[in-house]
Amino acid sequence: MEVIIQDSAVESCHLAARLISKQVRAYPQSVLGLATGSTPLPLYQELIRMHREEGLDFSKVTTFNLDEYVGLPRAHNQSYFYFMQRHLFQHLNVSAEKIHLPDGMADDIPAHCAAYEAKIKEVGGIDIQILGIGSDGHIAFNEPSSSLASRTRIKTLTEQTIADNARFFNGDQSQVPRHCITMGIGTIMEAKVNLLLAHGSGKAPAVAATVEGPITSMVPASILQHHERAKVFLDEEAAAHLKLHDYYQWVYHEKPSWQKI
Ligand code: GLP
Repeated sequence: MEVIIQDSAVESCHLAARLISKQVRAYPQSVLGLATGSTPLPLYQELIRMHREEGLDFSKVTTFNLDEYVGLPRAHNQSYFYFMQRHLFQHLNVSAEKIHLPDGMADDIPAHCAAYEAKIKEVGGIDIQILGIGSDGHIAFNEPSSSLASRTRIKTLTEQTIADNARFFNGDQSQVPRHCITMGIGTIMEAKVNLLLAHGSGKAPAVAATVEGPITSMVPASILQHHERAKVFLDEEAAAHLKLHDYYQWVYHEKPSWQKI
């Protein structure tokens, strides 16, 4: 894993955005895996700025989102579809038919999940997958104890995640859906590059367990230790519990120029 620590969340997101912009400029037909949550918002804002000011073109890009709540129609203001439209897609020139999110209202959820997996394969797989991390170490909605080989499927949210996400539902935990459709850990591991973003002190224990702890389904993100090209973008607060903090800084600063982002 490559650990990249920046002073602030915004700097960390801007660096990740630069990596994505390089990918999209080099391969305009790139397939991007996208995440919701507050963590990637500064990254999305920077991509929007690059689109507006630097002509970064998303017209040939295909996107797949990680997850969606079951039972929320796309027009619901807390659906991840709505979130993505509001915070990213309506500001970019991604073609509507190239945008993919699981459908939380699908009648046949297992068939819908299988079709989602097939669609990812059909376009040649995900080039760069953006990930946030839950305070319990989950990625997408793969909660602790998820199979490390899991595929896109229905999951039940933990009480912890319901409590964490209640802030988006006026603080009312009873409004938070109990189920979601999420890409599996096996699905995420097939992305060619995984970028995990984490900011703030609340994520520091999960980040330390992910990067320096044992690989275990109890910390789903820890499987990224097995990924050939996993990059972890942190601010100083999220990096605070890392034993090798200074080493990661050293490695980053000593990168040969051709390896710099
Ligand atoms: C949700 C999402 C995850 C996200 C996590 C953290 O559970 N399903 O994809 O990483 O929340 O969210 P935040 O970035 O708001 O801390």
